[in-house]
Amino acid sequence: MKARIVTLPGDGVGPEVTAAAVAVLQAVAAHFDHEFAFEEHLIGGCAIDATGSPLPDASLKACQQADAVLLGAVGGPKWSDPQAPVRPEQGLLALRAALGVYANLRPLNVHPALAALSPLKEDKLRHVDVLFVRELTGGAYFGAKTRTPDTATDECKYTVAEVERVTRRAFELARERRRHVTSVDKANVLETSRLWRSTVQRIAAEYPDVKLEHQLVDSMAMLLLTQPGYYDVVVTENLFGDILTDEAAAIAGSLGLLPSASLGEGSRGLYEPIHGSAPDIAGKGVANPTGAILSAAMLLRHSLGLEDEAAHVEAAVAQVLEHGPHTRDIGGHAGTTDIRHAVIAALDEHVANA
Ligand code: NAD
Ligand code: IPM
Ligand code: MN
Repeated sequence: MKARIVTLPGDGVGPEVTAAAVAVLQAVAAHFDHEFAFEEHLIGGCAIDATGSPLPDASLKACQQADAVLLGAVGGPKWSDPQAPVRPEQGLLALRAALGVYANLRPLNVHPALAALSPLKEDKLRHVDVLFVRELTGGAYFGAKTRTPDTATDECKYTVAEVERVTRRAFELARERRRHVTSVDKANVLETSRLWRSTVQRIAAEYPDVKLEHQLVDSMAMLLLTQPGYYDVVVTENLFGDILTDEAAAIAGSLGLLPSASLGEGSRGLYEPIHGSAPDIAGKGVANPTGAILSAAMLLRHSLGLEDEAAHVEAAVAQVLEHGPHTRDIGGHAGTTDIRHAVIAALDEHVANA
């Protein structure tokens, strides 16, 4: 098949991990006779430096015309002055909104070979397989903001329609898994959470074959550590999902491991590792590209419908996690390009043996 993929490497380690993911996609294209056309564009701090805007028109237009978008990370100390009139992160939020990708899928799996790196004891890590479905285009991220010298506000707003669509997506995904949805909110305090909970409750009636539970976000932060193996699909609003998934990444062993897919109504999607630009290690060639490579696998699955190819990439990544090499964040000494070469070699082997 032919596909147009826009890459947005962004800032910090973004270009390093994106290059690894692109190389893996190129290897997939060669093995399976696909034609992937890659087009690179600016986003974030590097886009501000070059054009004044964190999401230049040319970048947005290219994304809107692509089959899929692969993003690295945005942001960094250079653009983090609280007084700055424009910020890299605004470009990412504007892109998510413009593409209408309201459902952010963030899978958490714990590879047994990395169990010793998890802050949790090994017995807690058995059977951990959670799919977070984070609402991505609403809530406090997108509400009105005000600022005076001594007051600031961030409006947190949700409409019923916004909650309905992400809830349906979560229940549909649960039907392909263990049919268990946990909805996370703060309904004991927040009005948006009460609207969230009653809407989720009503939509759940359309899915009588799926079990629904509600959990308050503070206790969920605790339960994720005490019984991570209990959860299947976890659906939650934008800010709670951001925070809980960094916690989830720690359970897996490193923030560098987790991928994500951001989806809307069509097949076009935005794919990015959940980590940021990692300024402390940027430019050193040591960033873990696993989250980015697994995001590329999600791209193959969700935007291009290439399930077999996605599974081959995931198997290759699992093999490298099992046998090494490993980057520093997961206890090894390898660099980003070592992992890229190892994953491609494992992919070659898997495809040859398939
Ligand atoms: P971060 O995710 O960039 O880094 C947190 C810690 O995890 C750091 O110690 C870093 O070295 C480590 N880490 C992250 N990714 C890694 C990888 N692939 N391999 C090995 N180690 C990795 O979070 P931060 O430092 O709080 O944020 C830095 C900047 O990134 C901020 O400007 C923030 O807004 C931005 N950010 C962007 C995205 C995105 O583009 N999607 C996501 C999160 C944060
Ligand atoms: C993420 C990041 C972003 C978010 C920032 C950079 C806007 O933390 O993708 O998890 O909060 O959504
Ligand atoms: Mn985040």
